[in-house]
Amino acid sequence: MTLILGIETSCDETAAAVVENGTRIRSNVVASQIDIHRRYGGVFPEVASRIHVEAISLVVQRAMDEVQTAPGDIAAIAVTRGPGLAGSLVVGVNFAKGLALGWDRPLIGINHLEGHVYSLWLTEAADQITFPVLNLIVSGGHSDLVLMTDHGQYRMLGSTLDDAAGEAFDKVGRMLRLPYPGGPSIEKAAREGNADAYHFKRPMDDETFNFSFSGLKTAVMRAVQLPPASGRRTRGEESMNPDNLRPDVHVGDVAASFQAAAVDMLVEKTIRAAQAFNVTAIHVAGGVSANQLLRQELTRRAAIPVRYPPLNLCTDNAAMIAAAGYFRYRAGQRDDFALDVEPMLALAKP
Ligand code: KG4
Ligand code: ZN
Repeated sequence: MTLILGIETSCDETAAAVVENGTRIRSNVVASQIDIHRRYGGVFPEVASRIHVEAISLVVQRAMDEVQTAPGDIAAIAVTRGPGLAGSLVVGVNFAKGLALGWDRPLIGINHLEGHVYSLWLTEAADQITFPVLNLIVSGGHSDLVLMTDHGQYRMLGSTLDDAAGEAFDKVGRMLRLPYPGGPSIEKAAREGNADAYHFKRPMDDETFNFSFSGLKTAVMRAVQLPPASGRRTRGEESMNPDNLRPDVHVGDVAASFQAAAVDMLVEKTIRAAQAFNVTAIHVAGGVSANQLLRQELTRRAAIPVRYPPLNLCTDNAAMIAAAGYFRYRAGQRDDFALDVEPMLALAKP
């Protein structure tokens, strides 16, 4: 039995977990800062790192207490080193280094996106996974189609040319004055709306596996906002001011129509990539994989199994970092104390 302690602080969740053999969660503690960031309408980086500093020690302590295990029983400490907010990543990496030194255990740096990929190994389907699989990683910072040919072997097939899928949900949510984060708020509002009320264009006629959400975001903006006062021109993000929301807009209809368009684009490119690379299954991960319409449509249209993490493992957590850490540990990866954070770390090359 190999126990890995995982630590995750790349964005706004302070998390620690203990996972057995990369597949069985023994403890999974997540302290979310979401209520604090909601006041700012998004993640406030300086605030995030300060709260990580305050929370990390207790979060790790709880993850260890729940397993009732001694530090000596932990095989290695896996920690997210990127991508993410520099000031947040530093807190987790430094804490992990301190534990590695104090407990005399190996340290393993993990790519956060690889963590999302390994959230699928924490499901009952883990022993049915055979390579190659196609990963659709959709979060607040990423919309990537990644071919996985073996443990730790990735090829980037496509990603977003502009906004990430979750980012688009968050920005549209803001325009509609829905609570942050926009993803779950839009999904909820959409249940009361008509997805055919607006027909937003779905630009995906190209041959690539890339995504683009900024055109959709702009189309929503045009549909819901008051025209700018004459003589005043607004551009880009500035013009997405929620104060400009037209009073007669039916928020549910816009949410449902936007969600349908965003899901359509994700599903179409994913199905095409799955066919082109003859994969055995599609694995969806990251915050947006919680979306029920995405799950429903992808499963309906795919001819191969489509797998999703349980809802609590879609958003950021440390169990997925520990799972990824187990497979890295098994492959012999060990990092030294020079391990540094990499805010722009990529998962794979094209
Ligand atoms: O993976 P995650 O927790 O953090 C990042 O690594 O970014 O993803 C957060 C993103 C946010 O943009 C949020 O709006 C989105 O995932 N999200 C959703 C849903 N739940 C979370 N998007 C659409 N539908 C949802 N149900
Ligand atoms: Zn994430």
